[in-house]
Amino acid sequence: MGNCLMQPAKLAHASSITFASSEIGKSQDDVKQDANNDSKRVPMESLNKSLIASKFDASVPSSLKAFSFNDLRNATKNFKSETLLGEGGFGCVFKGWIDQNTFAPAKPGTGVVVAIKKLKTESFQGHKEWLTEVHYLGTLYHENLVKLVGYCAESDNRLLVYEFMPKGSLENHLFRKGVQPMAWVTRMQIALDVARGLSFLHGLSANVIYRDLKASNILLDSDFNAKLSDFGLARDGPTGDNTHVSTRVVGTRGYAAPEYVATGHLTPKSDVYSFGVVLLELLSGRRAMDDDRVGSVDETLVDWARPFLMDTRRVLRIMDTRLGGQYSKKGAQAAAALALQCLHTDPKYRPPMVEVKATLENLNNPKIAPATPPTQASYGLKLFPLSSLLNLLVWVLLSVSSVMVAG
Ligand SMILES: Nc1ncnc2c1ncn2[C@@H]1O[C@H](COP(=O)(O)OP(=O)(O)OP(=O)(O)O)[C@@H](O)[C@H]1O
Ligand SMILES: [Mg+2]
Repeated sequence: MGNCLMQPAKLAHASSITFASSEIGKSQDDVKQDANNDSKRVPMESLNKSLIASKFDASVPSSLKAFSFNDLRNATKNFKSETLLGEGGFGCVFKGWIDQNTFAPAKPGTGVVVAIKKLKTESFQGHKEWLTEVHYLGTLYHENLVKLVGYCAESDNRLLVYEFMPKGSLENHLFRKGVQPMAWVTRMQIALDVARGLSFLHGLSANVIYRDLKASNILLDSDFNAKLSDFGLARDGPTGDNTHVSTRVVGTRGYAAPEYVATGHLTPKSDVYSFGVVLLELLSGRRAMDDDRVGSVDETLVDWARPFLMDTRRVLRIMDTRLGGQYSKKGAQAAAALALQCLHTDPKYRPPMVEVKATLENLNNPKIAPATPPTQASYGLKLFPLSSLLNLLVWVLLSVSSVMVAG
């Protein structure tokens, strides 16, 4: 695989990129505001300084463990191919073992398993994103964000050490050939976990915008609980009277909100759009961007799905055939309607993540989830549970027999 093992890289999906149109739609004011916003972010500024000086100490959250390069080399059997978990645009991810208490490298198969991301040394952008990730994941904790255990900054080497997510990425489960298709309830639970993670970020006083939501950045633990990973593109959102922050346009094709790509204006609603795309992927089992559709009118999943989403009679045609029809039709219709709202071309009309989360909580709650309407017979049983019917029967029998005895 790729640069990790000295062979040409081939990624299964579109990697995060800087869009070619990035600065084109931006006014001088926007560019200036961008610079201002950056200069206000004191912790990042000081992180950058420490990077330039190649000394990495004061600004790093103290909760993180500083690993030496040698530690991580030993933890991964010298980054051996058999420990390679995957590869992205900025580097490779290896499986490693460390001691639970001392965090010293442990013998493979003992101690705790961690995932170690090793950035390609040549990219300055990579360094910047590495710093951003340390900044955010070193200070933010939530059950739907992947945990950062530590980092390594030794000469040109930049590595990150995360909790290991045994089921890998959502991308692998939705799109990789030969993988067992995920059940409907699992898909909806994953959508809810992601909504919880984003809702947490948007609810912070800094209005953190994640900016790179996609199936490959959603990682799954052994019970398919989902967590957001890769905070390299995250940034603080607008506060006070500001409606947006202006930035370079970065993200991933097929997932990035159209108004953000066109103008560079970033708001939490950009994440809501990307969430709509991920929800569509969960429903349809199709990629946000498919090589086979490039150049056609329905190049992106959104272009392909929109006409179906807008027609209640045809909406279920988007559903993944690998589900074999095993899903609640009402639930699927409600999820598709939610996706359509999130994908609204005008960000004003997209629901905030906290509302998206509430809708999915209802959808995942069997007591109030929209279900296929019950038949009359089952409705009768629901009103009078079996135990009550039996009690009633016993009571009638006893009454009849006591009347007979009295008679
Ligand atoms: N904490 C982890 N536990 C288990 N596997 C992981 C972990 N982090 C990453 N991986 C695996 O490594 C792969 C590569 O991750 P990485 O974040 O480098 O790239 P990507 O998200 O696939 O693409 P890109 O970041 O370039 O857009 C993931 O798809 C996943 O399979
Ligand atoms: Mg990633």
